[in-house]
Amino acid sequence: MSSFKDKIDKSNLPKHIAIIMDGNGRWATERGYDRIFGHHEGVTSVREITEAAAEIGIGYLTLYAFSTENWSRPQTEVDALMELLIDTIENETPTLNKNNVRLMAIGDLSRLPGNAGQKLNRCIDQTSANTGLALVLALSYSSRWEITTALKNICKEIKSDKLNIEDINDELISNYLTTKNIPDPDLLIRTSGEQRISNFLLWQIAYTELYFTKTHWPAFRKENFFQAIFEFQKRERRFGK
Ligand code: IPE
Ligand code: IPE
Ligand code: MG
Repeated sequence: MSSFKDKIDKSNLPKHIAIIMDGNGRWATERGYDRIFGHHEGVTSVREITEAAAEIGIGYLTLYAFSTENWSRPQTEVDALMELLIDTIENETPTLNKNNVRLMAIGDLSRLPGNAGQKLNRCIDQTSANTGLALVLALSYSSRWEITTALKNICKEIKSDKLNIEDINDELISNYLTTKNIPDPDLLIRTSGEQRISNFLLWQIAYTELYFTKTHWPAFRKENFFQAIFEFQKRERRFGK
């Protein structure tokens, strides 16, 4: 059986792929398991898709792992997700280094529990010299939080005469976002059948191609990822021109 991987045009790869990893809870409950089990299984997908992205030479892979709104979930689920985050980051650091993957994080990281923040920073430091795929984790992230923060910082600079109102343009705004220095995504994938953005990268996806699949995140495998890239390559991107 031929794989979507063989059908991908290697000269026309998306530089940046962002993924809303959704459906862990439903995947688990449909199988009679606890929602938390779905989150654990989701880690296998993270590992697979990171490997797949590195394998074919994607520049940036951004994974929406925890939204600002997700803090409002039951405390037991929040705690389980944070614990999973810490364990995964610790366990995966050697593999990231082996695969030349650099870890980055975007979001309101000050809200992460102390040990999660520390372990995250340690992994970011230990992988910072890697030159392959940049794996960007969106943690405690929401676009409205990001844009609000950017706006406050821009206003502060204007108030202290470091910036003129006339200097504000697309590029300047992009440089005040947490995604500063990261190119806008070319392709955004959302799993689990929901067709919404849920406060993710609102500014950055102005001209991003959207791809929705019914597959839940814990069932999402390399072949699904390669298929999304294959479908992306069939799109005509016009950028309004
Ligand atoms: C995505 O799966 C993971 C996170 C949001 C942390 P969900 O937990 O949202 O699973 P569903 O959407 O309820 O099935
Ligand atoms: C979006 O999924 C956030 C993440 C995948 C981390 P949600 O499950 O939180 O989004 P809604 O509630 O379905 O919009
Ligand atoms: Mg969900």
